[in-house]
This record gives sequence, C-alpha cells and structure tokens, in this order.
Amino acid sequence: MTPEVLHTTSFPVDGARLILDSARQAIAEREVFRIALSGGHTPAAVYREWAATAGDLPWDRVQITFGDERCVPPDDEQSNYLMARKAFLDAIPIPPGNVFRIRGELPPDEAAAEYEARLAYLGSRFQEERYRHDLLLLGMGPDGHTASLFPGTGALTERTRNVVDNFVPKFDTYRVTFTYPLINAARHVCFMVEGAEKKPIVDQILSGQADYPAARVAPTDGRLTWLLGWP
Ligand code: 6PG
Repeated sequence: MTPEVLHTTSFPVDGARLILDSARQAIAEREVFRIALSGGHTPAAVYREWAATAGDLPWDRVQITFGDERCVPPDDEQSNYLMARKAFLDAIPIPPGNVFRIRGELPPDEAAAEYEARLAYLGSRFQEERYRHDLLLLGMGPDGHTASLFPGTGALTERTRNVVDNFVPKFDTYRVTFTYPLINAARHVCFMVEGAEKKPIVDQILSGQADYPAARVAPTDGRLTWLLGWP
C-alpha cells in the first residue's frame, strides 16, 4: 500500500482540516466518528485548531481514544490525556462519556487490561471483532518510535491484544500503548510529524529502507497518510 504524503507549512491548519474532513465523512456514513489521539507535543496545536474550527461538528457523535499513555496520573505534566485536555477537550462540548482515557495511574498491566476490555466492549457495539478507528493519529519520535512502540521493546511483537503495557528501557519506565493489530485495523492512519530533525528518518521509512517501529504501520484495509511539517 502506497502512503499518501502531504507537506504543509501550516501544520495546525492542515492537520485540523484533515481531522474535520474525516469526522464529517464518518458521521455522514456511520453516524459516529471514532478517532485515536496521538500524544507528545506535536499534536497540541492541531487539537487547538480543530476545536477552534469545528463549527457545528456534533461532538456527541465523536468517540475519542488515546493511542498511548504514560504511566502517570491524569494531572501529571507527562500525561497525554492532560495535554489533550488543555489543548481542546476542556474547550469543547463533548460528552465526558465519549472520551476514553487510559488510566495511567493504575499499575501498567491493569491499565492495559482495562482499556483492552473497554475497546472490546465498544467494538462489540459495532459488531466488530476489533475496534475500528475512523482516524488514528500517530506521531513519530527521533528514534522512529510511534505511539509507545519503541525500538527493541516487547510490544512490537504483540499480534493478538489491542492494548498492552510496554517497558521502555530508554526511559526506565512503562507505557500503555496500542499495538499494531489495533493500529492496522483503522480505516485511516495519519502520521503527523513536525521537526526537520525527523526528516531523515521519515525519508528512510518512505523509501522502504528502514525497519523503525513507525515503518511497520500498514493498515490492513485502510489509508495511510503522512502529514509532514516541512516543504
Ligand atoms: C508519546 C507519543 C509519542 C509521540 C512521539 C512524538 O506518548 O510520546 O505518543 O509516540 O507521538 O514521541 O512526540 P513529539 O510530538 O513530542 O515529538
């Protein structure tokens, strides 16, 4: 499958537009928009722009999950949930029950198991064996990791579960992360990557010359887009 590669010098505007277009299409076709948020710093400006330009988007038809989470409480500065809350969740009229937070304050294996069960229940309501996101956002780190799928870590080999706890030696800590089976089940996966220092890795991935974790994302029956914040 050939990925769609988009370059932008207006990252927040183009990222928000991509999300909104996906949302309107999903709601028109299936009456619900299921999106997984990526963490880190890059997407915050996109989320702010999304909230600011959402117009009449019916937020009660939006379901929000998180592609990964640090094993910290939701008020910790490291929390991806806190980043999303500050960036846009606190500013939009989305029903709290539509935002599915990974409970990073729990022991990692319990947080992963709880989220796995939550996604299994939600998927069953759509008659799905595996919960299928309409749009699954991903970032990429300078080592080619995505979500919390870091090079050399155990989660890379998970082929059954959707969500696992993953020990990350470089940080000497656990993360909770989506796995490739869940990521690749999405209708549309979009990497949103900014920062010229990441360009060489992205170029290697797009030319098929690299086996970074981000390079193994390949939707089974969906689209793959790279939105790149450089010309
Ligand atoms: C996380 C993210 C991670 C992130 C990349 C890029 O929890 O850190 O999910 O995969 O997307 O590390 O992060 P930046 O946008 O901060 O560079």
